[in-house]
This record gives sequence, C-alpha cells and structure tokens, in this order.
Amino acid sequence: MNIVRDTTEGSLLLADLIGAAHRVVIFTGAGISTESGIPDFRGPSAVWKKMEPIYYDDFVASEDARLEDWRRRFHFNREVAAAEPNIAHRAIAKLVAGGKVTAVITQNIDGLHQRAGVPSEYLIEIHGNATRAACLECDEHHDLAEVEAEIGRTGRAPLCRTCGGLVKAAVISFGQAMPVRAMMRAEHAIQRSDLFVAVGSSLQVQPAASLPMAAKYSGSNLVIVNADPTPLDAIADHVLRGPIGKVFSAL
Ligand code: APR
Repeated sequence: MNIVRDTTEGSLLLADLIGAAHRVVIFTGAGISTESGIPDFRGPSAVWKKMEPIYYDDFVASEDARLEDWRRRFHFNREVAAAEPNIAHRAIAKLVAGGKVTAVITQNIDGLHQRAGVPSEYLIEIHGNATRAACLECDEHHDLAEVEAEIGRTGRAPLCRTCGGLVKAAVISFGQAMPVRAMMRAEHAIQRSDLFVAVGSSLQVQPAASLPMAAKYSGSNLVIVNADPTPLDAIADHVLRGPIGKVFSAL
C-alpha cells in the first residue's frame, strides 16, 4: 500500500495510472459530492450524525416511517437541485467520453454523474436513484411531484394507483435487496477492468464495499481516493489522501 498525502503528487499519479490503464472502473461514494454542497453520511458533517437511517422493514411496517422517509426524500432532492456537479464529476465524465472509463459504479442517488454528462449506459446506480418512485409490489412508476402533492393533500403515504401496494422512492434502504441487474453490470465491468478507482467512500457498507475487493482479487490495480482511512486501504495499491477536487485537478 502506497499512501500519497500530497494532492499534487496524488493527482499526477492518478493521471499516470489512468493513462496507463485500458479499462478503468470508477466507484463513487457520497464523498465525491460534498464539494458540491451535499453532506456525506459518515464524514465530519455526516447525515447519520443527525438522524437514524430508516430501514426497509420499518418503511413497510409503519406509516410514520414512510412519511418521514418521504419528508427526507423531498428535502434531499431540494438540496440536490441546488447543487452542481464538481471538478471530479466533470473529470470522470470526460474520462468516460474519452473511452478510458468503461463504467461508473455509484452508491450515490444524487444524479450528479448524469448531470456531469455520464451516459446511462456507463452509469451503474447500485443504491438506486432519488428522482424516481415505484410500487414495491408491481414496480409501477410514480412521479415524485405527484407523490409530494398527494401527501400534502391527504397527509398519507401514497399507495400504488394500479395495485394498491406501497410506493417508495427508487433508492435502496438499509435491509432492502440490492438491484440485481445493476450488481450484475458492476460485476461484469469489474471482471474486465485493469484499474479500479474508489472515490469518496468510507467503504463500510456491504455489499457495495465488496466491489473494490472483487476488483483487486480479479487482478485490477486498486486506488482509493479518500480524505479518511478506509477498511480496504491495506489491500489498495495506492491510497490518495486529501480533497477529491484537488486529487482530480490534473485529470
Ligand atoms: N475529499 C475527500 N474525501 C471526502 C470528501 C472530500 N471532499 N468529502 C468526504 N470525503 C470522504 C469521507 O472522509 C468519508 O470517508 O468520503 C467518505 C464518505 O463516506 P460515507 O459518508 O460513508 O459515504 P458512502 O461510503 O457513500 O456511504 C455508503 O451508506 O448510508 C449509506 O446508502 C448510503 O450510499 C451510502 C452508503
């Protein structure tokens, strides 16, 4: 494990490693969006320091949990609407456009990779996306604005207009099954990669945090870009400490 704490040196090393690679997979966590003004979950201004996560089973069992989950969702979406993709999002989109990056696997639901220009065929959202809602029974799509209006009118969490099932934002909550197709796409990209760059993740949440390990054990070079230590630093080829925007500044 080579730890680089000087961001200029780290940025040049990252540019060299990506330049020498042929099939790069970028894996992102909430830390890539903090410089866009969106708080992460476990860093200094973390979301989980202010509130407890709502687990999937609680959402299903409790009307109060559903209403609180929707309240948080609309608040988060307003935060995201006011945010802009930052230098790292834009650098990654440029690498995708240049053919270097074969997949962007993100734990984030903020949509900033899309807004930076990463085409959907390259983007793998393993924790879903906060801009959509769906019925948990029949998967019928529901418009978020209509959901918010209905809750405003009735004070009740919405039920599916087709089958009466519970409607939930299309994000993966703790205790909820991972999206099978997204995970298969991620595995496929990882198996073919020669460089895997984990950016802005504490690598503490499974099964997402198993993806960098899968990359390393399938023979990819593993680079971790993060301000704080992670449990996978010991198996990484390079750990680049410091603000992500500065580490991506040479790309
Ligand atoms: N530069 C470098 N590192 C940063 C920056 C920055 N500007 N901002 C934050 N970080 C680092 C923090 O040090 C932290 O280790 O990013 C990491 C973010 O970790 P988490 O907050 O745990 O976010 P993430 O890894 O994406 O969480 C995974 O947990 O709560 C669930 O579903 C949620 O997808 C999320 C999952």
